[in-house]
Amino acid sequence: MTGGFGMAGRGEKMGKLWSGRFGKETARVVEEFQASLPFDRRLYREDIKGSLAHVATLAKAGVLTPEEAAVLERGLREVEEDLAAGRAALDPELEDIHLAVETLLTAKVGEVGKKLHTARSRNDQVALDFRLYLLRVEREIGRALHGLAATLLDLAEANRDVLLPGLTHLQPAQPILLAHHLLAYFEMILRDLERLADCHRRTAVSPLGSGALAGVTYPLDRQAAAEALGLPAITKNSLDAVSDRDFALEFLAFAAIAMVHLSRLAEEVILWNSAPFGFVELDDAFATGSSIMPQKKNPDVAELVRGKSGRVFGDLIALLTVVKGLPLAYNKDLQEDKERVFDAVDTLLGCLAAFTPMLATLRFRADRMAEAARQGYLAATDVADYLVRQGVPFRDAHAVTGRVVRYAEEAGKSLEDLTLEEWQQFSPRFTAEVREVVKLPACLAARDVAGGTAPRRVAQALVEARTRLAAGVSWLGNE
Ligand code: ARG
Repeated sequence: MTGGFGMAGRGEKMGKLWSGRFGKETARVVEEFQASLPFDRRLYREDIKGSLAHVATLAKAGVLTPEEAAVLERGLREVEEDLAAGRAALDPELEDIHLAVETLLTAKVGEVGKKLHTARSRNDQVALDFRLYLLRVEREIGRALHGLAATLLDLAEANRDVLLPGLTHLQPAQPILLAHHLLAYFEMILRDLERLADCHRRTAVSPLGSGALAGVTYPLDRQAAAEALGLPAITKNSLDAVSDRDFALEFLAFAAIAMVHLSRLAEEVILWNSAPFGFVELDDAFATGSSIMPQKKNPDVAELVRGKSGRVFGDLIALLTVVKGLPLAYNKDLQEDKERVFDAVDTLLGCLAAFTPMLATLRFRADRMAEAARQGYLAATDVADYLVRQGVPFRDAHAVTGRVVRYAEEAGKSLEDLTLEEWQQFSPRFTAEVREVVKLPACLAARDVAGGTAPRRVAQALVEARTRLAAGVSWLGNE
């Protein structure tokens, strides 16, 4: 063979870690195809953190002498500093971050470096690294979502008296408070935070000690290793431990649902910013112009957030598909988990970084909202409810009110414009009171039910939202 199949041909210099069993070098094309270093280098901190805990566990089990452990620990810390400072290069010929760190360590500390991988497989190692990585970014994402929820709450409080037409089917339906509308999104984001916290709890489990698939032959104190890593629990089954990616799937499911919420709110911003609505004005710093039409002020941030949701849904479906046909235990397919998760993390964090300040700087046009609320016969349900209070069955009340609306529409009048005489042409049950009932603030106040838009209820909801936002955030940390 003369390299016709792209053999690596690196001779003795860089023998593979498994070279004992093999008579040939790996084909170059295979090396490149299977390498994960270009993307899993992101895990270097977690890889070193996991190795430090492993070294301590090996020393405790008597597998390493205290001196060897000390050398390895110092070496690992130096490798981390070197990588952080950009002093060490990750050899692109090495397959993944685990082999790359180990190689750097051995180059630094010599022979003893070769003892690091005792009682460990890359299968339990990568599962641990990935969990540690997710734990870190979950906190970061949690803080960003918390910031978004706080922004929604600030906006709701600052605009607590603003009224707008509530829509169903995008048609004028009933009047609502803007604060009530914003609090609806607050609820979604709070649920996202709960989902994330729940997923975080199941991520914080250590697979170390599971080895390649069946457990290791050394007396490792798995629980102590987990605790040294800040993980409260250890996995219960070694086969599951090395092939489980539920924590990543749960994270992606959380991320996909969170993107649905961002995308829905983005869609509202886009609609509200459109000329026919004119309910909001974007801050100049968060809008973009057109290269040809000078009058344009486009909601690109919101549009991109809406558009990027598709990537995250794709990430979830991709990983579900990777895992669904895998027999136990580890299979290389699992290496496909990382890019999907990294993409979702980057997308979600990127969206939140731009979306939250875009919202925070929105100017709400209460005048335009009030104007829109004057059209659309938003008080029609209240008229029917009024007739019900006069003893008319709801279905009859609905029909009478429908006729009133048609009349008003043809006469080019709003319900508030109608005189008592006009009302009474449709039913003798109408009294002067109906003219109060159709005023929009009265419609709001009438929805005085838990979870309703009555100003009294919304004021209460705002107070409760502050408390709920402050609760259960201890896991988010602050770094
Ligand atoms: N780079 C691999 C991954 O991401 C690490 C585990 C490799 N294990 C193995 N037996 N080849 O999954």
